[in-house]
Amino acid sequence: MNNDFLPINEEHTGTENNQLFMVPMVDKGIFEQAKKMAGTVVEYRELRMMYSCAIKEIRTKFDVLNSEFNVRYQRNPIASITSRLKSSASILEKLSRLKVPFSVENVNEHLHDVAGIRVICYYVDDIYRLAHALAKQDDITVLNFKDYIKNPKPNGYRSYHLIVSVPVFFSDQTREMKVEVQIRTIAMDFWASLEHQLKYKKEVPDQAEIVSQLTDCATQISQIDTQMYEIRNRIEQAEDEPTEEDLLLEKLRRIDLADE
Ligand code: GTP
Ligand code: MG
Repeated sequence: MNNDFLPINEEHTGTENNQLFMVPMVDKGIFEQAKKMAGTVVEYRELRMMYSCAIKEIRTKFDVLNSEFNVRYQRNPIASITSRLKSSASILEKLSRLKVPFSVENVNEHLHDVAGIRVICYYVDDIYRLAHALAKQDDITVLNFKDYIKNPKPNGYRSYHLIVSVPVFFSDQTREMKVEVQIRTIAMDFWASLEHQLKYKKEVPDQAEIVSQLTDCATQISQIDTQMYEIRNRIEQAEDEPTEEDLLLEKLRRIDLADE
């Protein structure tokens, strides 16, 4: 499991890159693979650029859906979007785990999460709306999906994952690029981020108890998601008939929104 998303929509920073050279130092096999990587720098860079463009394509699709849903449902379904390009260290580590030697072709063929985008929603129902709206777009091919919301992982992890392929148009070719999309609520993200941080802490006594406490927290968080969704529905249903003035203001607001 490797969770190397960044909180901002940028490629990995120098700090992350330092980790790259901590991996080869300890593993001779990976060191050899890293030398191969360095030997194909032009092609490898080009591949990273292509993944980076694929992220932009998918991000734009979510931005568009967010604007559309805003006008249609009068609220934003998306709280934030982050993305990341898998670091070279993680690429080497994953290939070595899969027992596949490094080559630009192998990265493209065997890894499905070089480009990753994470969409954070307010409410659970919007996750499915967004996933469905993306999946049915003509240029999107869904290669795989995992619904860890209906079927959480044993530790309590919840999120909706899709691996999609999207065509990216370059000056001399069109390339189908794979992107891993994770869609989750703010609450799910809160748990996953803390759990991820805690996992990397040193061995602690009572490990089993801590694991079970974390799973407990995940259950509580799932209940909060359900409650918030129910509260929102009740409020939406209870809203009074709008006055003429309300309707006029709403109309103006929508006109403004269309520009954003
Ligand atoms: P990887 O080889 O790690 O990419 O996993 P996978 O190919 O089996 O896919 P999976 O859908 O299980 O996980 C993909 C990504 O989901 C991970 O890289 C994490 O970002 C996230 N993820 C999965 N499980 C957990 C978890 O238990 N805790 C947290 N914090 N994140 C998780
Ligand atoms: Mg991964």
